[in-house]
Amino acid sequence: MPIVYLGLGSNLGNRKANINAALKKLGAARITVEKTAAFLETEPVGGPAQDKFINTVAKAFTKLSPEELLTQIQTIEKSLGRVRSVKNGPRTIDIDILLYDQLKIKKANLTIPHPRMLEREFVMTPLNEIAPNMIKKMRIIKTIQNLRKELIKFRLQNQRIGFVPTMGSLHQGHLSLIRKSVKENEITVVSIFVNPLQFGPSEDFKNYPRNIKKDQSLAKQGWADIIFIPNEKEMLNSSQLTYVDVEKLTQGLCGAFRPGHFRGVTTIVAKLLNIVQPHSLYLGQKDIQQAVVIQKMTNDLNIPVNIRVCPTVREKDGLAMSSRNQYLSSAQRQEAVILYQSLQLGQQFIQAGETEVSKILRQMRERITKNSPVKIQYLACVDPVNLEPLKIINGNVLLAGAVWIGNTRLIDNINVRAISRKNK
Ligand code: PAJ
Repeated sequence: MPIVYLGLGSNLGNRKANINAALKKLGAARITVEKTAAFLETEPVGGPAQDKFINTVAKAFTKLSPEELLTQIQTIEKSLGRVRSVKNGPRTIDIDILLYDQLKIKKANLTIPHPRMLEREFVMTPLNEIAPNMIKKMRIIKTIQNLRKELIKFRLQNQRIGFVPTMGSLHQGHLSLIRKSVKENEITVVSIFVNPLQFGPSEDFKNYPRNIKKDQSLAKQGWADIIFIPNEKEMLNSSQLTYVDVEKLTQGLCGAFRPGHFRGVTTIVAKLLNIVQPHSLYLGQKDIQQAVVIQKMTNDLNIPVNIRVCPTVREKDGLAMSSRNQYLSSAQRQEAVILYQSLQLGQQFIQAGETEVSKILRQMRERITKNSPVKIQYLACVDPVNLEPLKIINGNVLLAGAVWIGNTRLIDNINVRAISRKNK
């Protein structure tokens, strides 16, 4: 009999009772629930302000066809008071078909596997609990030779390889890159390597957070296929005499304060690209100068890879997620959001029609210095393509900054679109 996995959620009325009632009704509708995951309380995704959800995933057997199953589920939702008025609004019950055996269906009213399940913590956590084997088997590979051997197989089958380089200590920002790659490629490789070349002598290489166990579990949640964890000796043997240096683009912004940093990044990324030879490389907007520099390197060196820059994932208050946020005390954590707020203030000035950069940066600086003990390293308004500082705004710009909070250095940036002159 076909095995199905269903996602259940409720955030209206007695949430647990609603889910239990739905599970009972599934049984009565010839959908035999074998097991359910522990109930999980989660934040709502999208829609208006509303209460938290209780979620679970159920494994069930049924002879119903996918279409019949959908009809039954909709009947059960209706009988439990589900009203479909506001998109992503509060609901007494929500039942989604996540998986139906190995079937792949793409119809107007039904897509299986559920198209957004990989992005949803409230699906992946319970699914992982009751069906860890449904989640693809992730391989951990530690040597360049073994990785090459493994990847050759996929290349021969014309499968696309997506690559997410990281320094580990993974968080939701990294996970968003992994999920994007999983969506766009048959195979996703995530590398974890804390690269000594990109840390200055007084920087935090020794203390950089390392948590391989947690990283493995997060990468698995993202459905990565391979985690590549090379050792330092193999990646950087002491006889290496070749380095990759991108000029100009590395002089300003972070480059002005971290001499040698981007040389370290481009050298290691060039090596990783030669090892993995991916079709696409996934980078975060959070480190936009890094992304621009790597894009230029791949163009200049004719490295055939498609670069995908993914949006910055933020905490609820707006702080950009970063492995270094772990260094912050709780008081510092509260203060840390001031950088993003200052960038947003700059954006407001630009969108209100201000074109003089010095005025905008003065306001942004004041926002930080007047309200917090946070120390500014730089705040800048630059051209998003060549990263050159601007004096006057007459197009899209990049607002970027770096601050010190105690001994922790944090960076952030936002793209600001030019306002249409017609609307001014
Ligand atoms: P790391 O800081 O681990 O970041 C790995 C990737 O995750 C980078 O592309 C980064 O921009 C992205 N990322 C980090 N925080 C993010 C967030 N909040 N939202 C979206 N993406 C985010 O960047 C490096 O490692 C290294 O320099 C590396 C490229 C691996 C070379 O050593």
